[in-house]
Amino acid sequence: MVVPYTHEPFTNFQDNSNRSEYDAALQLVKSELGKAYPLIIGGERVTTDEQIVSVNPADKSEVVGTVSKANQALAEQAMDEAQEAFKTWSAWDPEARANVLFRTAAIARRRKHEFSAWMTYEIGKTRKEADADSAEAIDFLEYYARQMVELKDGEAINSRWFEHNQYTYQPLGVGLTISPWNLPFAIMAGTTVGPMVAGNTILLKPASLTPVITYKFLEVLEEAGMPAGVVNFIPGSGREIGDYLVEHPKTRFVNFTGSKEVGIGIYEKAAKVQPGQNFLKKTAIEMGGKDTIIVDDDADLDLAAASIVQSAYGFSGQKCSACSRVVAHEDVYDKILEKVTKLTEDLSVGDPVDGNTYMGPVCEQSAYDKILNYIEIGKGEARLVTGGSGDNDKGYFIQPTVFADADPNARIMQEEIFGPVVAFTKAKDIQEMIDIANNTDYGLTGSIISNNRAHLEKARREFQVGNLYFNRGCTAAIVGYQPFGGFKLSGTDAKAGGPGYILHFMDPKTVCDQF
Ligand code: NAD
Ligand code: ALA
Repeated sequence: MVVPYTHEPFTNFQDNSNRSEYDAALQLVKSELGKAYPLIIGGERVTTDEQIVSVNPADKSEVVGTVSKANQALAEQAMDEAQEAFKTWSAWDPEARANVLFRTAAIARRRKHEFSAWMTYEIGKTRKEADADSAEAIDFLEYYARQMVELKDGEAINSRWFEHNQYTYQPLGVGLTISPWNLPFAIMAGTTVGPMVAGNTILLKPASLTPVITYKFLEVLEEAGMPAGVVNFIPGSGREIGDYLVEHPKTRFVNFTGSKEVGIGIYEKAAKVQPGQNFLKKTAIEMGGKDTIIVDDDADLDLAAASIVQSAYGFSGQKCSACSRVVAHEDVYDKILEKVTKLTEDLSVGDPVDGNTYMGPVCEQSAYDKILNYIEIGKGEARLVTGGSGDNDKGYFIQPTVFADADPNARIMQEEIFGPVVAFTKAKDIQEMIDIANNTDYGLTGSIISNNRAHLEKARREFQVGNLYFNRGCTAAIVGYQPFGGFKLSGTDAKAGGPGYILHFMDPKTVCDQF
């Protein structure tokens, strides 16, 4: 028996003792920067000549760690080890598998600030953002472990008098988890342990910007009793080993989170049945967003402004759920723009190691260039109200940026920028606001700030996003409370942290025993 799930609370950094504990974790991590990390294949440490160098985006001169890089031969070796481990792991009592996750959660909880501090250094998360990422990782462990316990005996179905019918779930085999850098602990851990607790074995290819935090997580899984070969740590090039393993005839499923372009390519490649493959690959493909907050004519404008700023600039806008478009009713457009601009200009941008920083750097040079390029495009498409500049002398810092009077079809209103940039447009009524909100290829998150219940209900029916929020921002879904995933080209809507999540990685089986 397990107690009911509740989510991991966030740390209150107003409390001095919590601030001191986080500072101590930063010191600990700083003392460990620059170390080398091997691959983990079948439980064995494998060191390669070619290395991924993980760098602090707030200070380009600081190496967080160097990590071995898998090639196709090592990916093949990992596939063999995972195949072998599947034979025993799939036969484990599901509760024993769940217990590995519960123990992992307990260890991660005890070392939560340390994990968060790694994210501060490795990807530039402020302590609040890093703490939320760690809490979400712990939540995935706790939530999916319980899901496995609930599903272990299958579902109740009818039997007639002469038969006994059973409906149970069985794991698939070896799967590939490909994770992004922007929630480097939470999504990496969630998309690994969900299929793992279901009895599958995993080839884990993390994003190349965040391999160190991934290695640290693998160590905890091992400490918690995960057998060798159940999760294999194989960072490497997406094109080289990513494509190779997506197309591999023994890969049973691909659990991908990342950009639309890469996700669509994986979806297509995984659909092709390869020589020697006698099954169809399952895919969970979670991709980007172009997320809108609607501000109605009767909205609480202070609430709207705070929600927009938090959703647009938390972690420098580098969230699939980030607000990058505001559609405001024409009667309140000028007022909400003014309030958001004021709050934006008060934000502090700097090194996230400093506890007072609101917004840290963006993740790397290519992202810095891409975001500044979109800002240049925006200057030709809309009115720059504030921000619009960057500084990459030491790290990749970009000022939080607001554009006004954007055409709903402008590129900055349609394409995922993945940086601290938000564009405003106005509309005459609720129908036009919802139509504009829906006019992108994406359908991930969205919010409406309104006191009009009829408008909220209309949005419930017509606002085409997987995660819709009323009178709050459009980020910060909680595992088990707001299952997460998008419509349209935001993905397959696998709903991470939702009731049916691990069923994506199992085959249901019906057995009819007649007597
Ligand atoms: P990305 O698509 O560049 O990379 C994601 C992962 O795919 C990385 O591990 C990368 O190495 C790998 N990859 C790249 N090319 C590959 C290939 N050809 N074959 C196999 N793997 C390959 O995305 P990113 O920059 O790491 O992450 C940001 C993107 O992720 C944004 O678009 C964001 O919106 C999206 N995202 C979506 C969600 C969601 O739940 N929907 C959550 C977080 C991030
Ligand atoms: N699940 C994350 C959020 O809701 C991405 O912001």
